[in-house]
Amino acid sequence: MTTLAGASPLALHDAETLTDDALRDLFAYPADLGSPLFRANFIASIDGAVTLEGSGRKLGTPTDRRVFGRLREVADVVLVGATTACSAPYVDIGMSPEAQAWRLSRGLAATLPVAVVSSRGIVPPAVLGNATVPPVVFVSANADPVLRRALDQSDARVIELAGDRISSAAIRSALGELGLHRVLVEGGPTLFSQFVSDNEIDELCLTTSPKLVCGPARRIAAADQHVEINMQRRGILAGADGTVIVRWARY
Ligand SMILES: NC(=O)c1ccc[n+]([C@@H]2O[C@H](COP(=O)([O-])OP(=O)(O)OC[C@H]3O[C@@H](n4cnc5c(N)ncnc54)[C@H](OP(=O)(O)O)[C@@H]3O)[C@@H](O)[C@H]2O)c1
Repeated sequence: MTTLAGASPLALHDAETLTDDALRDLFAYPADLGSPLFRANFIASIDGAVTLEGSGRKLGTPTDRRVFGRLREVADVVLVGATTACSAPYVDIGMSPEAQAWRLSRGLAATLPVAVVSSRGIVPPAVLGNATVPPVVFVSANADPVLRRALDQSDARVIELAGDRISSAAIRSALGELGLHRVLVEGGPTLFSQFVSDNEIDELCLTTSPKLVCGPARRIAAADQHVEINMQRRGILAGADGTVIVRWARY
């Protein structure tokens, strides 16, 4: 693997010099996970905006899209809130033959489900209708009864959890019971903010898109109460398109 600054885990990698398999190896979760590891993946502008004209995808760059795909390919499950689940990338998390080969060689399932967290029971029909890899749905015990019936009639693995706002610990515990340990949290900011506030995030892969956007956009995490979690840098990936991706892990 080519690096710009030595071979340490803190190295600066030049994205263009890495093959897809090298990227998968770079972002592989620890092999011996006995419980869920929550890794979040976000993109933000240089000035911290999480959306451009209301969409996170509009901040995307070729390097980001490439790494976004590889991060999915090394995970057991993609975890999102109900609003993010309504956007196109969650309809079908396809795996190329190369990605499936990498996964199988490392003991992962060939494909992975999306897991949606919802208090009301809102899961887009296109996600619910994925019969190849049915989604997991973490739904509040107080969900809308009509929406709940539709969930129960689908192929989804529906897991009812207490409270209107399902607790971060309950989500972690339910994923552990399902044996889904390599957790990729793709947002959105509401779900991620709760995980940060509850001190439940283990890693963050943060892409900086080479744009200043100003405007009314939110940041990746916000809460009424101040929270401080010390993180250490585990690697930097730089793309020729100006993208910078930093992998942060808690101490
Ligand atoms: N830049 C990026 O990397 C990125 C990543 C993801 C999303 N985004 C952007 O962020 C925006 C969406 O943000 P968002 O914060 O609304 O998305 P979100 O976190 O995906 O969805 C929020 C919804 O998810 C459900 N939910 C979240 N946590 C829950 C909990 N603990 N218990 C029960 N239900 C829970 C609730 O839905 P119900 O109450 O309706 O059930 C809540 O209204 C979009 O514009 C998207 O483009 C950007």
